[in-house]
Amino acid sequence: MQIVILADAIQIAQYGADLIHKQISAKPCSVLGLATGSTPVALYGELIEANRSGVLSFQSVSTFNLDEYLGLEGSHPQSYRHFMNEHLFKHIDINIHNTAVPPGNAANPIDACRDYEARIEAKGGIDIQLLGIGRNGHIGFNEPSSGLTSRTRVKTLTQATIADNARFFAEGEYQPHLSMTMGIGTIMDSRKVILLATGASKADAIKATVEGPLMASCPASALQMHRDAVLVLDEAAASKLSDREFYKHIERENQKLLAQLGI
Ligand code: GLP
Repeated sequence: MQIVILADAIQIAQYGADLIHKQISAKPCSVLGLATGSTPVALYGELIEANRSGVLSFQSVSTFNLDEYLGLEGSHPQSYRHFMNEHLFKHIDINIHNTAVPPGNAANPIDACRDYEARIEAKGGIDIQLLGIGRNGHIGFNEPSSGLTSRTRVKTLTQATIADNARFFAEGEYQPHLSMTMGIGTIMDSRKVILLATGASKADAIKATVEGPLMASCPASALQMHRDAVLVLDEAAASKLSDREFYKHIERENQKLLAQLGI
C-alpha cells in the first residue's frame, strides 16, 4: 500500500483527481469505479472544474458505482444514482448511458448483482476504483464479516452504518437497511485503488486497515493484498498510525526518485 498523508481535504481532493486525470489522459476509454459519501465530493468538484476548463474529457469514459440502497428508485433523492447525477454526471461531458449504479429497484436483486459483475467484465474491468471508508472499516457496503473474495451481492447494513448515514435522510423518512454492493473481490480486481479518508472519526478504521491484521472484521484491510492501492489521508485520519513518519519519509523518497527520473 502507498500511504500519502496530506495537510487537508483540499489537497486530498486534488491528489486523487490528479490520479484520475492521468488515468484518463493515458487511456481515454478508461473504466472508473466511483464512490458516494461526503469524502469524494471535493474530488468530483476538481474533475468537474478540469472538464469545464477543457483539459479533461469524459466522452469515452465508463463508470461503475460501488453500491446502492436496495429498494430506492434512482430518482429518489437519497439514492446513490441521484447522488452521482447531482455531484458529478450532470456537470461533465460523460455519456449517461456509460454510467452504471447497481439497480436498487431491481425486481430480482440477485440476478441484478450477477448482471452487474458481467457488465464490469464486459468492459474489460475497472482501471481505477475510488473508495471512501466507513468508521467500522467498510468499503462500498462491505460491512465487517464480509467475505474477502466476495462479489457484487445484497448486504445487510450494520446499525453503525445506518446511524452514520441517517444524516442524509429527513426525520421519519424511510431509510433502507439493505444494499447492493460490489464485493471485496470485485474491488480487489480493479487495476488500481484510491481510498480517501479525512477526519479523526476515520482514524481507528485507517489504523486497522494499514497496521492491523488482514481480517474480515475490517473489510478495508483486504487492500493490504492489492498490488496498487493508494491511501490518501489527512493528518487526522492518519493520526493513529504508529509508522506515519515512515510513510511520509517513503513519499518524500518517491518524489525525489520521480523528479530524478523526470516523471
Ligand atoms: C457509505 C458508502 C461508502 C462510504 C461511506 C463513508 O456507507 N457506502 O462507500 O465510503 O459511506 O462516507 P463518508 O465519506 O460520508 O464518511
